[in-house]
Amino acid sequence: MINQYFTERRSVRKFQKKEISQSLLENIITAAAKAPTCGNMQLYTVIATREESRKKELSAYHFNQPACGAPVLLTVCADFNRFTRWCNINNADAGYDNFLSFTSAVADAMIFAQQICTIAEMEGLGTCYLGTATYNAPEIASLLKLPEMVMPIACLAIGYPDEDGVETERLPLRAILHDEEYRSDSDADITELFRVKDEYPANQKFIEENGKENLAQVFAEVRYPRAMNEEFSAKLLKWLNATWYK
Ligand SMILES: Cc1cc2nc3c(=O)[nH]c(=O)nc-3n(C[C@H](O)[C@H](O)[C@H](O)COP(=O)(O)O)c2cc1C
Repeated sequence: MINQYFTERRSVRKFQKKEISQSLLENIITAAAKAPTCGNMQLYTVIATREESRKKELSAYHFNQPACGAPVLLTVCADFNRFTRWCNINNADAGYDNFLSFTSAVADAMIFAQQICTIAEMEGLGTCYLGTATYNAPEIASLLKLPEMVMPIACLAIGYPDEDGVETERLPLRAILHDEEYRSDSDADITELFRVKDEYPANQKFIEENGKENLAQVFAEVRYPRAMNEEFSAKLLKWLNATWYK
């Protein structure tokens, strides 16, 4: 049997005022750093923001989402700066200012971030990702004084939960597990795979509230629309070209 924690966990966006002790935070981060990492290079850094005025500034770059009320905001960064400097100090040719190395650091940072969430939640804390870290990466980098080759990948709101969180639906196993080769699904198959999302009561409410015909329109036209994706993508690429790779 799979541990119940994994089958029942939920994101939490409302937190008690209670602080997380420095020792608990350090224990979580120390344990999370045992996560797998590319070549054991540990291409990540996490910045803890606790101070109210800084949290306020940082929250603005996360569009003041509800989860920003957490006692600690952890900005998890992909980081090839530290490793590159170590190479330079040791007269080793550091060739990490390229796209491939960038993707390695992003993978390391994401795995590390999820390990933080899992450990924190298993210790009774609540967590929520703020994916908006990538939308305003240049501004967040400036606020947190990130050097070159360091990019915020995700922000984790973390604290003692003040709500149970909302139960969310998942696609059926068949959608995500394919045998041996990628299975090519018909339009009817895809429609069937997404039925659980289309019919989920909370999603039905989204459709109604947004005056759309279906859930796909809510995602593609309201939550993650083309113009927004393209605008933030162009901003991020420009910044990465100036700070990481050409
Ligand atoms: C990369 C990533 C970015 C996310 N960004 C946000 C966010 O900006 N705001 C938010 O409230 N939740 C965010 N989430 C949380 C998801 O909305 C949540 O995990 C998903 O709806 C499933 O719900 P559950 O975690 O409660 O099962 C993000 C999760 C991931 C993995």
